[in-house]
Amino acid sequence: MPSLLIIQLILSFLTLTTSQSTICRTSCGNIPIKYPFSIDDGCGSPYYRHILHCSDSQKLELRTPSGKYVVRNVSYADPHIVVTDPFMWACEDGENFRPTRPFSLDTSTRFKLSLQNEYIFFNCSEDNVIIQPKPMFCEHYPERCDSSCDSASYLCRHLPKCSFALSSSSCCSYHPKATESLRLMLKYCTSYASVYWRNVGAPQPYDQVPEYGIRVDFDIPVTTRCLQCQDPLKGGGTCGFDTESQSFMCLCKDGNSTTHCKDYDIARHNRKVHVIAGTVSGISAAGAFGIGAGIWYLKKVRAKAPVTCGVQTNENRLF
Ligand SMILES: *[C@@H]1O[C@H](CO)[C@@H](O)[C@H](O)[C@H]1NC(C)=O
Ligand SMILES: *[C@@H]1O[C@H](CO)[C@@H](O)[C@H](O)[C@H]1NC(C)=O
Ligand SMILES: *[C@@H]1O[C@H](CO)[C@@H](O)[C@H](O)[C@H]1NC(C)=O
Repeated sequence: MPSLLIIQLILSFLTLTTSQSTICRTSCGNIPIKYPFSIDDGCGSPYYRHILHCSDSQKLELRTPSGKYVVRNVSYADPHIVVTDPFMWACEDGENFRPTRPFSLDTSTRFKLSLQNEYIFFNCSEDNVIIQPKPMFCEHYPERCDSSCDSASYLCRHLPKCSFALSSSSCCSYHPKATESLRLMLKYCTSYASVYWRNVGAPQPYDQVPEYGIRVDFDIPVTTRCLQCQDPLKGGGTCGFDTESQSFMCLCKDGNSTTHCKDYDIARHNRKVHVIAGTVSGISAAGAFGIGAGIWYLKKVRAKAPVTCGVQTNENRLF
């Protein structure tokens, strides 16, 4: 009897560990979770490890140094996520500004604040921030009008989803180039809101609508190993990584492989063959692509004019 019990225990432990290897949840609430993201450790790309979490209430959360933010949507085709910030001004606040704090991103991650965000600031100190309506000139040459916060901007006059406009002195919009400037601006303004222009696929100029939220862009690391692992002809595995060494793992129904799922049987029965196969494919991949793990789909951000942060200094005094 006791030995049977032990065998049963071992069996259930075994099924537990093998089934664990295939559990990579593919959604959180109604948001699809795909490579490079994951909400289970060991799945996806190690670059995005421990950054996204699925709460008990099935809300996807992004963790950054400034806090936890609910992710409203994820797009893998045009890689970006949209997060909401509870410390951001909302229509119902009117001029009763809520206490705020700046949103920040860990710059060591592969996330970047999107250039499609526009920020509106409320009740800024005129001693420190240049607030003025921007002339037509600035719409054509925004980089030459970088340093002032526009009190006549379209967004201040048409606050998305609000039925009113704020008095012109208390709203201005500014296009910071970095989260650092967001922090600096919030030292001198009472509150802020981020608006991103969502593509709705309508004909121009109605193809984009302003919506509250912070758009954060990300990169999808594409490696030959991951493409092979996902290949349905090679077993259709899920890309993941070893949680200790962070080295690539193809997660398959029957266990893990360093190459692809069809390779798994060989790997399990002969560890030596498995190691050699791993090295060979490593070399051929390196040979095909030169040095480096693979291709990165990067949103190329051109080096722009120096960040002036909207805050008046002797260097950026333009007007
Ligand atoms: C497979 O990989 C996953 C993720 O790294 C790990 O959690 C699991 O323990 C592994 N399973 C086996 C059987 O090696
Ligand atoms: C979420 O993203 C998908 C794909 O980009 C889009 O079709 C959908 O409208 C978005 N939903 C919301 C609420 O923004
Ligand atoms: C506007 O900002 C000033 C400081 O610059 C502050 O004293 C005042 O309370 C703010 N107004 C509102 C409505 O928050």
